Amino acid sequence: MNIMLRGNSGCDISVIESSGKLIVKKTSRDKRYNDRLYRQYVKQKSFTSSVFSHTETYGFALEDGRASFTMEYLNGMTMAEALRTLELSQIPGLGSVMMSVIPQDIRRCESANDAFQDKLASLEKDRRMSRFSVSDAFKHLRRFDWSWASGSPCHGDLTFENMILKDGRIYLIDFLDSFYDSWVIDVAKMLQDAELGWHYRYERMQNNNLVIRLLCLKESMLAAISAHPMGRQIFETVYHTLLLNVLRIIPYCKDYVTKCWIDRQITYLTRILDETKERVL
Ligand SMILES: Nc1ncnc2c1ncn2[C@@H]1O[C@H](COP(=O)(O)OP(=O)(O)OP(=O)(O)O)[C@@H](O)[C@H]1O
Ligand SMILES: [Mg+2]
Repeated sequence: MNIMLRGNSGCDISVIESSGKLIVKKTSRDKRYNDRLYRQYVKQKSFTSSVFSHTETYGFALEDGRASFTMEYLNGMTMAEALRTLELSQIPGLGSVMMSVIPQDIRRCESANDAFQDKLASLEKDRRMSRFSVSDAFKHLRRFDWSWASGSPCHGDLTFENMILKDGRIYLIDFLDSFYDSWVIDVAKMLQDAELGWHYRYERMQNNNLVIRLLCLKESMLAAISAHPMGRQIFETVYHTLLLNVLRIIPYCKDYVTKCWIDRQITYLTRILDETKERVL
């Protein structure tokens, strides 16, 4: 048996049978992707979390110049798909589980501010930014103090496609070495799907079941943030990171639907940040 799965990165992902059980083999698209795949393998292998379950990796190999690694096959459903049909009463619990990646004790960290400011400066130089109205967004991001984004282990690309729900547990795949490791990177990515509908942007018809579930999930995530002793700092840091993430998509934007989605989110998020600033003043 050899079934190919679909992803966006261009890697080959196949489900194969080995010694009577199913495993997944992820192979880099070409040798330029090898290092990145190796870092992904190392991060997945060493990742420990009290919130998410561990996806077992087996081995890393190099064949004909292409890197690959194998891992257990998770017989479940991606969070992106599961959210279409999950029992509504389960959603608030799911939101608070997701938000428990936020540490209880958050301290200011100067190196966080440096990492985010450096990222921002390099992004602002990208000439592809000029296709979008980004000046207000960059103004918000440049003057923000990112030092509450304390460092912690993180997945790096925690979209709902990279979470697999199986037997009531959440397993993670497709780790990414991010420019900075912090819980805020993961929280912002989850809200990118729950609140901004990133994964569902191509869907033409509004699916009311999904809309209700995403809204309920977002509300439970925000409730968990508000209940945290550092709720205000977390909210501000997460929403600035969300805006930064939207801007980081610009260099890769190749289609009209994504362009419209980016435009909408920049307007929406800068409005939220304006309102937050007014409330604080
Ligand atoms: N271990 C696994 N068990 C079950 N399904 C898996 C597993 N690994 C990958 N998949 C499925 O294949 C899809 C693509 O995998 P993955 O995210 O690793 O690939 P990718 O090419 O890096 O994708 P993208 O760039 O779109 O995130 C996943 O969303 C999931 O549906
Ligand atoms: Mg993926």
